[in-house]
Amino acid sequence: MRPNFSGIGTSRNRAISGLLACVAATLITPVSPLHADEAQPFRLCADPTNLPFSSDSPAQPGFYVEIGQALAHALGRPIAYDWYKSYFGKRTVRVTLLGKQCDAMIGLPRSEDFMGPAVIFSNSFAKEGYALVAAKGQVIGGVDGLKGKRVAVQFASTPQNLLASRDDIQKVTVLSPEEGMQALDQGKADVAFIWGPVAGWLNKTSYNDRYQIQLTEGEGLSWDAAIGFAKTSTELRDRVDAVLPQLQTTIGELAVKYGLPAGQPVRFGAATVPSGTTTGTGTGAGVTEVANVVATETKGDAAAPSGEAVGAGKEIFNGTCAHCHGPDAIQSERKIDLRLLRHRYGDDVRNVFWKTVHEGRPSKGMPAWQEVFTDEQFDSIYSFLLTVQTESND
Ligand code: HEC
Repeated sequence: MRPNFSGIGTSRNRAISGLLACVAATLITPVSPLHADEAQPFRLCADPTNLPFSSDSPAQPGFYVEIGQALAHALGRPIAYDWYKSYFGKRTVRVTLLGKQCDAMIGLPRSEDFMGPAVIFSNSFAKEGYALVAAKGQVIGGVDGLKGKRVAVQFASTPQNLLASRDDIQKVTVLSPEEGMQALDQGKADVAFIWGPVAGWLNKTSYNDRYQIQLTEGEGLSWDAAIGFAKTSTELRDRVDAVLPQLQTTIGELAVKYGLPAGQPVRFGAATVPSGTTTGTGTGAGVTEVANVVATETKGDAAAPSGEAVGAGKEIFNGTCAHCHGPDAIQSERKIDLRLLRHRYGDDVRNVFWKTVHEGRPSKGMPAWQEVFTDEQFDSIYSFLLTVQTESND
């Protein structure tokens, strides 16, 4: 059986603007064209402080770093590291991997949606996903198993969206898997539906293996983790694919070592998952990305709302829409970033807004609101949104 474990999400995401230009200027051409590759190290990009995935501590290198070491060994090449904060963010991938600072990044979601054709992937080496954490002995067979329970969910995560429409399940919103585990520990939640790998790691290192952890699967809940390369590295990618099968046992052992959840996943229907949250960025990393953006942007010069309508609209927005679109409309997931409405629709923006809020896009996870608000209220939300329009959410 293929081992099941997880590990895409990471816990930080910092601005790294300005670096791209420097990187482009430092591309190096090998001096000797002959066998240049053989002596060259296998260069891995990794976050130095992101256990259970990666760390620059040789005593505890992390799941991905140890996979990288095993890979380098199998390829007959020495390993070298490019330590980089905020490992997962797309900007980081652009700067490090696509900037040729390293040859590979381990643990990217194997999906065309992730970065388009610029990034190519190895075969998948693991399943990654959200997990249900609860006291031992509880069997939760699916969403109905959560009925009547208090469930900790991460802000703007797939589980939060999945449970949003269930009045019979009480949601406790947390900002991180750490907070989710604390909510359990402090008796504020019965179950935590949070990012699996971090939950497993915390359970092992901080909670004495007190909880049981069940992996889940379903749209936006789990996907395949792979090794990412720049699109020009097809040859290296093919060599990695050739040695991956012989590393599966090692990878399985490493998953156990780092506490990553294993076992048969619980299947969840994904009918209510908004499309904007189903790709790699909408998961573990997306969550913290949103949280960080919120933290930094609300600290600064949050635009003072001018006029009553804007203020009223902002209040409605933050009470009802922010749940999915982010507080003050700050949202890193482009598809549901309402700050891009004007950029996206130009002169048609008012029509699109009006039609969308009245009728919703039920199949895409956007509810209809015409029974809920008056046209005057919609107008005020619209006025507020106009004050936050921007060209790019990058
Ligand atoms: C349960 C989650 C959820 C809530 C709550 C929600 N939305 Fe949405 N909304 C979505 C999703 C998902 C989409 C993207 C649909 C798609 O991909 O076409 C969306 C799309 C939109 C769009 C169109 C964006 C575009 O670029 O096409 C507008 C406008 C919008 N929402 C406004 C609102 C307003 C105003 C509220 C509050 C009254 C609100 N939404 C509440 C999930 C939500």
